Amino acid sequence: MLRTIPFFQGLSDDDLKLIDGLAMEKHTPKGQVIFSEGEEGDTMFTIVAGRVKVFIGDEDGREIILKILGPGDFFGEMALIDRQPRSASVATLENSVFRILSNKEFEICLERAPRIATVVMQALAKRLRDADRKISTLALMDVYGRVASTLLELAINSNGKLVVGEKLSQQDIANMVGASREMVNRILKDLSDRGYISVESKTITIHDNKLPPSF
Ligand code: CMP
Repeated sequence: MLRTIPFFQGLSDDDLKLIDGLAMEKHTPKGQVIFSEGEEGDTMFTIVAGRVKVFIGDEDGREIILKILGPGDFFGEMALIDRQPRSASVATLENSVFRILSNKEFEICLERAPRIATVVMQALAKRLRDADRKISTLALMDVYGRVASTLLELAINSNGKLVVGEKLSQQDIANMVGASREMVNRILKDLSDRGYISVESKTITIHDNKLPPSF
């Protein structure tokens, strides 16, 4: 099972056995905070099943979602690498299963399979690219454009249809684009009235053949 997680793919059978014994399995129900921004952290998590949101919040309860992660992704590695407090909070969006590695076990993985360092570097580079794109979207687009580009970013091709892969609430989308839920509600209704999208029980289908070039 560990072999299906990209993070562990460079390990030999013996090393996988070792890690299998080391990496604790943890089941966490939906809606739980796994850790909070600013905490000390000496564990990293790979996602076996479920989904989490990585977010930053303020004292008024407002939050911005930096990323939604799913099976095969990992998080919590930054505090292990730079020994700084957690850079963001992470909470489950669904009942989830993780394999957790402590600092020491992470180092054993790196020693046994140096390829893991490449996997981590590639993931960090991808995160930086995504973050750059997000900064430019937040700084340069109006809310309408931010909602449209977020929907397109999350969309996957499913049976020939462009569907937003995640089942997200309007509040989740609002927290991804830095807007109020009411504003997102108005924009989704407008996009739907114009025939660009249809929304059915949290599943958003994008009618890409009808989209204007500016969408
Ligand atoms: P760490 O800082 O230990 O704890 C929070 C984790 O969230 C961090 O490690 C990363 O694994 C993850 N994380 C932080 N920022 C982002 C981002 N922009 N995109 C994806 N994951 C992130």
